Amino acid sequence: MVNIIDVIKSRRSIRKYLDKPISKETIDRLIEAAEWAPSGMNEQPWGFIIVQDNALIKELSDRSIPYINEMIEKNPKFAGYKKRMAVKDFSIFYHAPCVVLVLGKTDAFSYQNDCAMAAQNMMLAASSMGIGSCWVGMMNVLNEDKWFREKFQVPDNYRVVAPIALGYFENKDIPVIEKRPPEILKYF
Ligand SMILES: Cc1cc2nc3c(=O)[nH]c(=O)nc-3n(C[C@H](O)[C@H](O)[C@H](O)COP(=O)(O)O)c2cc1C
Repeated sequence: MVNIIDVIKSRRSIRKYLDKPISKETIDRLIEAAEWAPSGMNEQPWGFIIVQDNALIKELSDRSIPYINEMIEKNPKFAGYKKRMAVKDFSIFYHAPCVVLVLGKTDAFSYQNDCAMAAQNMMLAASSMGIGSCWVGMMNVLNEDKWFREKFQVPDNYRVVAPIALGYFENKDIPVIEKRPPEILKYF
């Protein structure tokens, strides 16, 4: 049996993917995992857009980049992304073969938290199946973009919360990261 703590600890944000599609059945399982997330007042205010068309994924990335550059100019906090984006053929989705956009209904009580829960469920389920993922918050810059909203037929009351890149990967491409020990403010 899969140990959930092992799955949680071994999930890493993957930034290099194999050119290997994810089957429809597998994607359906991941969406199923997302749907079972908790949500404020059980509103389940999420919707999913699944993109597997490489040209469309590229266009999503290409259209995000000018907005991201603008963001970087305005806020030095994002300066680290400049180097990452300087790579030849850079894609904000790291050439993942699949992107799932988790969108939230803005009229729901806590749609951002709810969508984050759904996204985490999906990423953990993916990890348990040997599929890598990366939450690409950078894509949120397209939320008010006319082309994006029209092309993907996004209903007026939905906003992207969690753009998730998904794909198979090689073990050598799993990043090593450091975690600080938890900051326990107080035990009572
Ligand atoms: C809200 C959010 C936004 C993120 N946006 C990006 C992003 O735009 N690009 C990226 O490469 N990683 C992004 N990440 C991934 C984080 O960089 C990553 O989770 C963090 O470095 C810890 O690494 P780990 O996921 O392997 O534990 C994002 C993660 C979260 C939760």
